[in-house]
Amino acid sequence: MKAKRRVVTNSGGSTTAHRSSTLRRQRTSNALTSMGCKDSAVDMTTPRRGDATGRETVATADVDLSVDLGRGLVLPNPIMVASGTFGYGVEYGDVVDVDRLGGICCKGTTLRSRIGNPTPRVAETPGGMLNSIGLQNPGVDAVIAKYASTWEGWRVPVIVNVAGESVADYVEVVKRLDGIPGVAGIELNISCPNVGRGGLQFAIDADAAAGVTAAVRRATDLPLLVKLSPNVADIRPIARAIADAGADALTAINTLSGIAVGGSRQKPLLGNIYGGLSGPAIKPVALRIVYEVCQVVAIPVIAIGGITDIDDVLDFLAVGAVAVQVGTAIFADPTLPVRLVAELEGACRSGGFASYVPFVGTALPKRPSSPSSKGVEYRP
Ligand SMILES: Cc1cc2nc3c(=O)[nH]c(=O)nc-3n(C[C@H](O)[C@H](O)[C@H](O)COP(=O)(O)O)c2cc1C
Repeated sequence: MKAKRRVVTNSGGSTTAHRSSTLRRQRTSNALTSMGCKDSAVDMTTPRRGDATGRETVATADVDLSVDLGRGLVLPNPIMVASGTFGYGVEYGDVVDVDRLGGICCKGTTLRSRIGNPTPRVAETPGGMLNSIGLQNPGVDAVIAKYASTWEGWRVPVIVNVAGESVADYVEVVKRLDGIPGVAGIELNISCPNVGRGGLQFAIDADAAAGVTAAVRRATDLPLLVKLSPNVADIRPIARAIADAGADALTAINTLSGIAVGGSRQKPLLGNIYGGLSGPAIKPVALRIVYEVCQVVAIPVIAIGGITDIDDVLDFLAVGAVAVQVGTAIFADPTLPVRLVAELEGACRSGGFASYVPFVGTALPKRPSSPSSKGVEYRP
């Protein structure tokens, strides 16, 4: 099964995904060139089919939703499910046909088992929720023993979301996952405290983020996705550093840091005080980050944040994402991601497109836009 998933494409057999990221790279390239970034390694290959607008017309061919995330990880379609919101996939087997999904990111996995944070761990918010689950999981060895053989039998690639408190932790978890049939790739959750640096999250510092990415890159040939945190002033240098350190793709975004106040107003509501905000409320932030990141990196970007319908998916593709992950919305409707696959295919057909390439990057600027770190209200 692993070999089936990890299809290595070449110039003679490029996939939709490759064309998709190529199109985005061309847009990125234009942006970078006008910025004076001539040294950036941007793929200028022409898309395989299509006219000057990049549009591909449906003739006899079926719609091809496949997406190549690099290092041979080819998803059957770009609709994935986000870590922490779909368990290990097996929990949803009776409700949805998981093999119709583009990819599954399983719950965050650590070296040793974790019981998670004190309760309460979740709170509803307008347009979303706060969670502080605290990476409750049985540990990497138990995850492999319990789930990998099931994953191996699936067509859908399962990407293991990995968390740790030190570079050594991440490397050890990834080494144990390397070569396990059923594990199609790694997604690094770097929104974790780095105990060696006073507990500062890896994700908020370009050097720390690049350091853990490079160490994991050396430890495995598995496709490597790295998940960005929105809780930073300027995402662009961090995204660039992670890409340069060897990530195959970026996922964006993890939750936004927040709190809720308890009923008696004597203390914060969550047992952990801080929680991560997710759901529709964070979509504009996620859109902004994907928009900014897609202008500065040449690797595929996978968007996450508040997706509840096909318009959300198309919005994220428009700002340059080549795939998306559905998260919190799954709690309300576990069938949503599979439905979105059908709806994206329908959108391609209605547009007369043989793939979703024409939807990717349409809202990216021709010239690089001013970063949000310069402020949102005033133009200099
Ligand atoms: C209950 C819950 C648990 C989560 N657990 C993880 C996790 O273990 N690892 C991770 O990288 N992200 C985790 N996330 C973040 C999601 O994968 C996603 O990035 C975030 O929720 C934003 O997407 P959404 O608005 O569609 O939910 C979790 C989110 C929720 C709501």
